Amino acid sequence: MSDAPILGPVNHVTDLDAAGDFEKKHTPHIDIDEVDGGLLVTVTVGWDVPHPNQPDHYITWIELLAGDAPIARFDLSPIATTPVVSVVVNVDPGTVLRAVEHCNLHGLWAAEITA
Ligand SMILES: [Fe+2]
Repeated sequence: MSDAPILGPVNHVTDLDAAGDFEKKHTPHIDIDEVDGGLLVTVTVGWDVPHPNQPDHYITWIELLAGDAPIARFDLSPIATTPVVSVVVNVDPGTVLRAVEHCNLHGLWAAEITA
């Protein structure tokens, strides 16, 4: 059972270069590649600093939003998965894509990228 509030405040790091390991291991990293049919969006949690992936501490889910609208969600289990997810999306250029992840101990973390 999670110790973190499911709908608690969302942590958002604006200057990841100046952030510490705790912030780096939780802030989603978003990559976009043009592919047939749209944009391949890959969200990685633990890009710079790996996040633990054990039953007592892991990323429970990753959600992708276009603006404020949820467009994809991935529920994860520890050990059997890693917190890296990809999906092809079709959005207008200039759309802000927002990734939100939930750590069972440390709550919600978000990052954005413009398509
Ligand atoms: Fe964590």
